[in-house]
Amino acid sequence: MITTTGLTKVYRSRGREVTALDGVDLHVREGEVYGVIGQSGAGKSSLIRCINLLERPTSGTVTVAGQDLTALAGRGPRAGRELRQARSRIGMVFQHFNLLSSRTVQDNVELPLEILGKSGKERSRKALELLDLVGLADKAKSYPAQLSGGQKQRVGIARALAGDPKVLLSDEATSALDPETTRSILQLLRDLNRQLGLTVLLITHEMDVVKSICDSAALMERGRVVESGTVGELLATPGSELAAALFPVGGEASADDRTVLDVTFHGETATQPVISQLSRTYNIDISILGAAIDTVGGLQIGRMRIELPGRYEDNVVPVGFLREQGLQVDVVDPVNAENAENAEESVNAGDAGDAAEGKRSALVKEGAE
Ligand SMILES: Nc1ncnc2c1ncn2[C@@H]1O[C@H](COP(=O)(O)OP(=O)(O)OP(=O)(O)O)[C@@H](O)[C@H]1O
Ligand SMILES: [Mg+2]
Repeated sequence: MITTTGLTKVYRSRGREVTALDGVDLHVREGEVYGVIGQSGAGKSSLIRCINLLERPTSGTVTVAGQDLTALAGRGPRAGRELRQARSRIGMVFQHFNLLSSRTVQDNVELPLEILGKSGKERSRKALELLDLVGLADKAKSYPAQLSGGQKQRVGIARALAGDPKVLLSDEATSALDPETTRSILQLLRDLNRQLGLTVLLITHEMDVVKSICDSAALMERGRVVESGTVGELLATPGSELAAALFPVGGEASADDRTVLDVTFHGETATQPVISQLSRTYNIDISILGAAIDTVGGLQIGRMRIELPGRYEDNVVPVGFLREQGLQVDVVDPVNAENAENAEESVNAGDAGDAAEGKRSALVKEGAE
């Protein structure tokens, strides 16, 4: 539904060049919720602005719903009209809502319809229908200042839907909201995705956002996509940073000469009998350091961190045995284990905000250099 190939954006200002996007290949399938995550300055907003051509890419292509938008950009009045039309099929939701304070809620939602030249009656019908859809039917005549942050964002979403878009782009739509309101806005996006078959590309720096509603995700670092895939694919990718951040399991080796493994299983594969078989077959004592079962992107995932006696070299055969049973096995090396542990501490130490921070620092630990 959205494809970018070799998307590059270089900003030039006062003789300085900043490469915000460095050859981004992204593929968002129709009907999915796709999350792009990365630390500040990674190029997330640049990506979204290049996808709807608010920002002209330096090179590369952007295709949305089968239409090559980059080919339309700057090719005379006819192509310009086509580009505007194509853009009206892309809804955009912003972090700071961008509502006009002098207009009522209904008039804010009508704004894009005015630009599309719709009649007053049609605008009003559509706006009220959309306000009903986002649960704000009774606020049509209110002004933005009379609304809570969550309600303002619902208006922002209703406005984004005015042109009957196939695609909704969201840049940090929940970053200005408290955790409970965040959940309700995410739920609304999920419902719209399902009800309207809307493809949603959302940018966030919060892992919890990805975890709660995304089918697929990409991790951006310094203008590049360094990991991407469906949640299932990511969890099945050895050493995936996104998978580890989506689904952390704690626990530290009890001594130096131990092998620590993260064992991941999806729905059908159960670990319990496999672990006891492993223990019996190789006559080794296995300790469970941490375990969790959770739903990530609608997928039941289990992960267990276990410890085997001896160093990795001594455990190559047991590790092979686990992999043969269809389990995903990541070997936790002592340095990474320490990083993961630090992240866990900060997650446990604070409130939800700190937890997001902790996960973020775990997620982007490598970006610091
Ligand atoms: N209009 C601009 N002119 C010059 N440089 C820019 C411009 N917009 C962004 N940049 C630079 O491009 C890089 C990527 O910025 P971008 O806003 O895309 O990051 P981001 O991932 O959205 O960050 P955040 O999480 O803080 O919103 C940064 O180094 C930024 O300073
Ligand atoms: Mg940004």
